[in-house]
Amino acid sequence: MKLVKQLVFKSLGDDRGCLVALEGNEIIPFDIQRVYYIYSTAEGVSRGFHAHKKLKQVMVCVHGKCRLNIYDGSEHETVWLDSPERGILIEGFVWREMHDFSENCVLLVLASDHYDEDDYIRDYSEFEKLAKRY
Ligand code: TYD
Repeated sequence: MKLVKQLVFKSLGDDRGCLVALEGNEIIPFDIQRVYYIYSTAEGVSRGFHAHKKLKQVMVCVHGKCRLNIYDGSEHETVWLDSPERGILIEGFVWREMHDFSENCVLLVLASDHYDEDDYIRDYSEFEKLAKRY
């Protein structure tokens, strides 16, 4: 895995079940400014299709699974998000797409900044042009 990094979380399980705690500037390597989650994704729908100029994110599939595709302008990587005990850190200038959401998938995203549409590159050809400079 070159374009993204896998984070393995400690599960505080006991006979009651499991619990994972995520702290900013600890296992999550940035100050968490925003949390959002994607759920009730309709069958066959894919999401993402953008890059971020500065934003860092950790994605965790807390229930179900989906496939994350990453592209940095020269290399492609595919990672399955399928465990509440593992996260994927995305911090480079990469194009991301999420596909194959399972029924009842809940994808949790921790982000280093508030929502800012100016940080998005949603046009693929613009991304390809900019990727050459990064
Ligand atoms: P969108 O960027 O299309 O989601 P994705 O890239 O994951 O498929 O976001 C859907 C809508 O939600 C869009 O109108 C922007 C808005 N939004 C916020 O207001 N705040 C947020 O933190 C995010 C991620 C999206």
